[in-house]
Amino acid sequence: VELRSGRVGLRPIALGDRRAWKEVRARNAAWLKPWEATVPPGDATAPKTFRALVRDLRRQARASRALPFALTVDEEFAGQLTVTNIVGGSARFASMGYWIDLKYAGHGFVPTAVAMASDYCLFEMGLHRIEIAIRPENTPSLRVVEKLGFREIGYAPRYLHIDGDWRDHRLFAMTAEECPDGLLRRWKTREPLE
Ligand SMILES: CC(C)(COP(=O)(O)OP(=O)(O)OC[C@H]1O[C@@H](n2cnc3c(N)ncnc32)[C@H](O)[C@@H]1OP(=O)(O)O)[C@@H](O)C(=O)NCCC(=O)NCCS
Repeated sequence: VELRSGRVGLRPIALGDRRAWKEVRARNAAWLKPWEATVPPGDATAPKTFRALVRDLRRQARASRALPFALTVDEEFAGQLTVTNIVGGSARFASMGYWIDLKYAGHGFVPTAVAMASDYCLFEMGLHRIEIAIRPENTPSLRVVEKLGFREIGYAPRYLHIDGDWRDHRLFAMTAEECPDGLLRRWKTREPLE
């Protein structure tokens, strides 16, 4: 799947992104560290290299459990947006995570990417709900869901292993009924949220 809106693109992450991924991650280490998923103690299965990470993500994609995107700006590798925990049946929901190179922050690129990916999940894949979990301290990310009109649905103590420990998260969600004309359209036209 490839999605595009203006300068922002989403395409499957590939082994060929290795050089750009490493360069961007090295330059952004301090920027990303407080928000980065880390490996819980005792988990020996987590991927340790970019190659292993991409293989793991693509395995999940083939099993219809994930959509691992590279986020591009003007075709340049700029970050990641990953749809994970895709569940069918009576749930039909998925989680979404994202990060962007600091040099591209503050231009609304991630909200655009989240809107495009949500529309794809809700209206092409037929999912019902997209969830985003955010640490209470992460003001920029809280702004992303606020600007897109995600609804706050709960608080999860010690929810994810981030930056070396189990961290509390605020949970946000968007259902298909809440954006019948699509999230990207709403974001681009800045229609008032109900
Ligand atoms: C959270 C994040 C993805 C937002 O992406 P983005 O494309 O910059 O999103 P926006 O342009 O909509 O900016 C969101 C907010 O970031 C803040 N921001 C803008 N430029 C910034 C900068 N240079 N440095 C820090 N924060 C900045 C602003 O508060 C902005 O809100 P505003 O639109 O009300 O001014 C990005 O900050 C990031 O990658 N952070 C590190 C990783 C991370 O936190 N991932 C999410 C985990 S839940």
